Amino acid sequence: MKYNFDALIDRRGTGAIKVDCVQEYWGRDDLLPMWIADMDFPTAPFVVEAIRKRLENPILGYTHRCDSWYRAVIDWQQMRYGWSVRKEWLNFVSGIVPGIAHCLQAFTEPGDKILIQTPVYHPYILVPQKSGRELVMSDLIVPANDVLRGLGGKGDEANFQIDWARFEHDLEGCKLFLLCHPHNPGGRVWTREELSRMAEICAHKQVIVVSDEIHADLTLKPYHHIPFASVSETAAQNSITLASPSKAFNMPGLSSSISIIPNEAIAAKFNAWLDSGEFNLGHLFAFDTVTAAYSNGTEWLEQCLDYIQGNIDYVEQILRTEMPLIGMIRPQASYLVFLDGRGLELSVEELNRFFTDEAHLALNDGAMFGKPGEGFMRLNVASPRSIIAQAMNQLKAAYQKRFA
Ligand SMILES: Cc1ncc(COP(=O)(O)O)c(C=O)c1O
Repeated sequence: MKYNFDALIDRRGTGAIKVDCVQEYWGRDDLLPMWIADMDFPTAPFVVEAIRKRLENPILGYTHRCDSWYRAVIDWQQMRYGWSVRKEWLNFVSGIVPGIAHCLQAFTEPGDKILIQTPVYHPYILVPQKSGRELVMSDLIVPANDVLRGLGGKGDEANFQIDWARFEHDLEGCKLFLLCHPHNPGGRVWTREELSRMAEICAHKQVIVVSDEIHADLTLKPYHHIPFASVSETAAQNSITLASPSKAFNMPGLSSSISIIPNEAIAAKFNAWLDSGEFNLGHLFAFDTVTAAYSNGTEWLEQCLDYIQGNIDYVEQILRTEMPLIGMIRPQASYLVFLDGRGLELSVEELNRFFTDEAHLALNDGAMFGKPGEGFMRLNVASPRSIIAQAMNQLKAAYQKRFA
């Protein structure tokens, strides 16, 4: 491997939420932090180099998007996903969550209904709620505990599934559907058939789809990400795609993302909203770093994904052999492993206490992603293997005391 993902880098004192906010969130700082979704690996070196290069000129003035940014975004989508994106479809948003908030502002009013598929990344719940929209939580089908404790639980049946009758019913009267694609916390890569079906139903019911594809570049073998808007003209003409290299290249602190909107009328409305507050101005590092990631990223990303895949295999192996009551949803994309603690037969509070007080791990409680997430804990495995080993040892020691 050309790149080193084993190196231990001390993030303490850098303001990193993952390590510096453990005390604030858990009231103690003796926990191994494996929660918020960024990586403990160094950001890709060509991204850091782009920042260094820009700082060689000490005038930190207003910065515009030059052609190389458009080119890099277009080429990346074409090369990785075979999606031909046009320059006029693109705009800058400071992040995916801000992008979702902009969609709410541009296309809905307070009181309008927004559909999400729970359990799902918690800002999908918080952002609409905080802006006075009405949330419709369309629960996904949760795989059974015995499948996830998994003697062979693999593929889509060992991950979240859509309850189509419920989806159609819940979509009635909604204005927007926030699609998490790939899905967090399940790591599900929605298939072409599923995406096409969602596209048809949403178009029929006149619900615009916001497809959050932040985890797309973290799709693991043998799965393939298919951009929602690429599945059909129906999907293209009724959607807003939000993309970013921030997750895959570990640069979320740079707040630089992209909106992709093929439909002229939808783009005009969205872009007018962005223009009204100069929300799409970007910042000094917004464009050069994205350009660097997309222009140089393939080899680094492949190695990073292999390493993540190795960490997931490692966790799965230890759970199967040493902690058979704990299952997991194997992500098809992302470095987030949704641990299934339902077999431990603890309440949500007890499960959290077990992971915190006994295993000394700081994980995300599955319940924060919506009711079907209860009984699960989300483990971030984007750390050097030695940290994953330490986490598994701590979990195993706690498990053996209580359940073996
Ligand atoms: C599905 C999903 N969307 C969006 C985000 C955050 O995006 P941003 O930091 O660009 O707002 C995350 C971060 O974990 C995520 O998992």
